[in-house]
Amino acid sequence: MKRIVVTGAAGQVGSEMVEALRQRYGVDAVLSTDIREPGDSGSLGPFRTLDVTDPGAVAEVVRGHSADCVYHLAAILSARGEKDPQQAWAVNMGGLYHVLEVARQEGCAVFTPSSIAAFGPTTPPDPTPQDTIQRPNTMYGVTKVAGELLSDYYHQRYGVDARGVRYPGLISYVTPPGGGTTDFAVQIFYDAVAHGRYTCFLGPETQLDMMYMPDAIRGSIELMEVSPERLVHRNAFNMTAMQVTPESLAAAIREHIPDFTIDYDVDPVRQAIADSWPRRIDDGAARDEWGWKPEYDLASMTADMIAQLQARG
Ligand SMILES: NC(=O)c1ccc[n+]([C@@H]2O[C@H](COP(=O)([O-])OP(=O)(O)OC[C@H]3O[C@@H](n4cnc5c(N)ncnc54)[C@H](O)[C@@H]3O)[C@@H](O)[C@H]2O)c1
Repeated sequence: MKRIVVTGAAGQVGSEMVEALRQRYGVDAVLSTDIREPGDSGSLGPFRTLDVTDPGAVAEVVRGHSADCVYHLAAILSARGEKDPQQAWAVNMGGLYHVLEVARQEGCAVFTPSSIAAFGPTTPPDPTPQDTIQRPNTMYGVTKVAGELLSDYYHQRYGVDARGVRYPGLISYVTPPGGGTTDFAVQIFYDAVAHGRYTCFLGPETQLDMMYMPDAIRGSIELMEVSPERLVHRNAFNMTAMQVTPESLAAAIREHIPDFTIDYDVDPVRQAIADSWPRRIDDGAARDEWGWKPEYDLASMTADMIAQLQARG
């Protein structure tokens, strides 16, 4: 029987991760935690308020639940992190350190997402290899690289079963995104369905890796379940499903909403962040070592996003 604590569970990933973990392991086996209450999308089941910057509280929650695994999703994302770099460091590094420390003491496995933000302007952008230059220039990216290294350290030094992926931009309809640079790829669908038009904060040809949330959730759980001897890498696997520009997204949306229009009001801060990230990451290591394979491409994701948002009304 698995006993799981999820941090950051009220967020874009966490709200759907908790649901999937509860379906797999049982409602009471999965303790959902966040610094804020989950919204309407929060699933019914055990919830505790938890600030991951508080080491005593992290240890108490993990021990109290007799957890053998932590899905550590609490974080400050890229655009929000540039508004308050000090808080981004405190949450992203402090939170991970406290989780790894209790995992070391209690023998828990730890899943931590890294990001395409762990790369930077000197990284080869297309394709970006699994093992390559990582010199990001955002505080979020700095914490993601350091988090990958810290997680590998806890594995090598203490045998903590720490595993992670580098998520690309994640597209979903359940919970709004929390202040990342790829949020446009979610908002475009909401605005297309509600208003038939969208004003994008990145330029038309800005190409980034993306993935539909059901693939991200399934893939993450598959990584945590694979036998450890299959893993050469641990923190963190490149993981992608498609490469998208605002223009290609708009074209895919027009297959369903022919009158949809897009215009541009570029935000220099988020454009600079996007320009420092890869155009296409190579996820061959994830495919080889634990069988990663996306189910959704741009066309099937777009069809599902629009159908889900239209059904919601
Ligand atoms: N969404 C994406 O496109 C994306 C892409 C790459 C990586 N990731 C990574 O996936 C993970 C989850 O991201 P997300 O998109 O769900 O982010 P999100 O912003 O939607 O959710 C993060 C959650 O963390 C919580 N949180 C913030 N400070 C906290 C604290 N001190 N203690 C406890 N909880 C706190 C927030 O309340 C929020 O609910 C993060 O590690 C993120 O870096 C996400």
